[in-house]
Amino acid sequence: MSTSWSIRKASGKDCKAIYDIRNHELITKVSINPQVIPYSEHVAWFESTLINPMRRLFVIEENEQIMAVLRFDLTQECTEAKVSIYVAPSHWGKGLGSFLLTMGENQLKAEVSSLRTLKAEVLINNEASLKLFAKCGFKKEWITFSKEVL
Ligand SMILES: CC(C)(COP(=O)(O)OP(=O)(O)OC[C@H]1O[C@@H](n2cnc3c(N)ncnc32)[C@H](O)[C@@H]1OP(=O)(O)O)[C@@H](O)C(=O)NCCC(=O)NCCS
Repeated sequence: MSTSWSIRKASGKDCKAIYDIRNHELITKVSINPQVIPYSEHVAWFESTLINPMRRLFVIEENEQIMAVLRFDLTQECTEAKVSIYVAPSHWGKGLGSFLLTMGENQLKAEVSSLRTLKAEVLINNEASLKLFAKCGFKKEWITFSKEVL
């Protein structure tokens, strides 16, 4: 962990950097939605996200480069939020993910006093992510099964 890291809310100028990290092949490979998103679609999503009161987007930046992105999607009642987090692959394994998730959780809790639960969905073979959530205090609740019936 570096003492120079700090988290901040995403702003308009982060649109392309966030797009590039989200669509990195090592990130899409482990994403529940693995599709590469067209940039025009991302811009529309990003602009609506910045003004959506039910969503929070945090980043960590160093030397004007975005290294990690964290999103919370609140439910209608604001008691629960779904987490999505990704770190630029060149920065994996340095503690950025756990730092961002911990700081983001603290900030969300301070802003949304009704918040009780955070949820995340992770692919079963995504070791890094399983470890990250366990380290940050999340407990495994569901396992989903699937079978190809060709
Ligand atoms: C999951 C992810 C966010 C972790 O970010 P990170 O900055 O590398 O995580 P940290 O360095 O804070 O490490 C967290 C834990 O995961 C472990 N870990 C990190 N990379 C790992 C890897 N490739 N394989 C196994 N464990 C790994 C670390 O050792 C650490 O556990 P420990 O402290 O008990 O040793 C990052 O790998 C990523 O962006 N993955 C793609 C997107 C994704 O899967 N997002 C989560 C689903 S929402």
